[in-house]
Amino acid sequence: MTLIIEGIAGIEPAATDQARRAFRDALGHFATGVTVMTTVSDSKIDLGLTVSSFNSLSLDPPLILWSIANGSIYYDHFRVKAPFIVNVLSEAQESLAVKFSRPGSDKFENIGIQRGLDGVPLLEGCVVYLECLTEARYPGGDHDIVVGRVRRIFNVGKAPLLFHGGSLRSLGENRS
Ligand SMILES: Cc1cc2nc3c(=O)[nH]c(=O)nc-3n(C[C@H](O)[C@H](O)[C@H](O)COP(=O)(O)O)c2cc1C
Repeated sequence: MTLIIEGIAGIEPAATDQARRAFRDALGHFATGVTVMTTVSDSKIDLGLTVSSFNSLSLDPPLILWSIANGSIYYDHFRVKAPFIVNVLSEAQESLAVKFSRPGSDKFENIGIQRGLDGVPLLEGCVVYLECLTEARYPGGDHDIVVGRVRRIFNVGKAPLLFHGGSLRSLGENRS
């Protein structure tokens, strides 16, 4: 049955390249904050990646979730029981969002860090920090869902960085 909403016809997300693009665009209309998930490898190398799929899951017990791409070089580092920190970026940290979304081994050079539980790096200047242990992993298509149990919280409270329509933005910014 054809359904038209405000002149727009529905699209099946996986039918064609154009439909896949429409699916990405649709997801991009959902505004999110921006986080960097940090952890430390078994050989004590600091690791971090920019993530916008973060969300709340449960208040009691305190659980959060995010998704990691199947091909990510970080895929095995967020295994069950691994410690990690959700660093919620502030509007002044756009450059960190870009840095931690690009290939390279120098991501932690010239940035301020402190050490959290289990030696996980915590990026200075963030809005909120959630120190977690990976509670569970679930397959979800081309990503895995990572569930984290929160064990310590820092609520610094600053204006957050936003991600909307494929762009990094600030609250109150007047862009279409
Ligand atoms: C705004 C933004 C949001 C992102 N969200 C995710 C995400 O939720 N999950 C994920 O696996 N990758 C996400 N990425 C991609 C990773 O940050 C990126 O693949 C990774 O940092 C690449 O680093 P590497 O080349 O060192 O592997 C996102 C990138 C950007 C710019």
